[in-house]
Amino acid sequence: MRRLLAILPATILLALAPAACKRASPEQQAQGLEAFKTVEQVFQHPRCSNCHIPGDAPLQFDTQTPHAMNVVRGPDGHGAPGLPCSTCHGEKNSPASYGPHAPPGAPHWGLPPPDQKMAWIGVPAAELCAMIKDKKRNGDRDLDAMFKHVSEDKLVLWGWEPGGERKPVPVPHERFVAAFKTWMDAGAPCPGA
Ligand code: HEC
Ligand code: HEC
Repeated sequence: MRRLLAILPATILLALAPAACKRASPEQQAQGLEAFKTVEQVFQHPRCSNCHIPGDAPLQFDTQTPHAMNVVRGPDGHGAPGLPCSTCHGEKNSPASYGPHAPPGAPHWGLPPPDQKMAWIGVPAAELCAMIKDKKRNGDRDLDAMFKHVSEDKLVLWGWEPGGERKPVPVPHERFVAAFKTWMDAGAPCPGA
């Protein structure tokens, strides 16, 4: 009886602790790390990383070669004042009848702004993970906002319907979103941390 009384307060405290204070179990952390591999695979796929670059010219194709016609990021990511992305890229992909090399499209087509490049092409997994969580480098988003972005942003969804002969991201979108959630719910553990 005495022992029961002694553990009771601790039990109550645990029950009252807000969800955010709950620490992920080692198994959950391991699942989170495993799920991050899928997140990494998608973020670094050319359909995503062609825009998430350290340089100032978007990349093209699976070969990730610089964009033709000297297209550049410009002051806000939407191209040089004289040649904005919207000159060629519309709100959706060009009709198939325009041929496989017609410009693809999605709302707000552009690169991230120069002071927040979100350049995750080719960076090691641990660095990518740190970047995704760092509000100074991800456009001031917390993980819930990032989750919403990867679930429904039109530029993200374009990666699964890229038009022309471009290959879509190979991991199904639902699987990517589920992996992001598993990683997040496990406390967003980073490889090697
Ligand atoms: C055409 C260029 C382009 C492509 C393709 C693209 N992105 Fe982005 N991405 C952007 C821009 C621009 C922003 C900044 C948006 C903003 O700040 O509102 C951004 C921001 C983000 C962010 C930061 C969160 C946020 O709310 O801003 C994430 C995460 C992201 N992209 C993931 C992806 C993934 C995953 C893919 C591929 C499935 C992808 N992006 C494909 C241009 C692109
Ligand atoms: C003068 C027209 C033009 C302008 C301006 C332009 N693009 Fe493009 N872009 C194209 C065309 C055409 C393609 C398709 C090329 C092909 O498939 O052969 C393309 C392809 C792309 C791709 C390749 C997608 C992939 O994964 O292969 C990205 C990314 C891209 N553009 C980003 C941008 C961004 C960002 C801007 C503005 C900063 C921009 N483009 C401005 C014409 C343009």
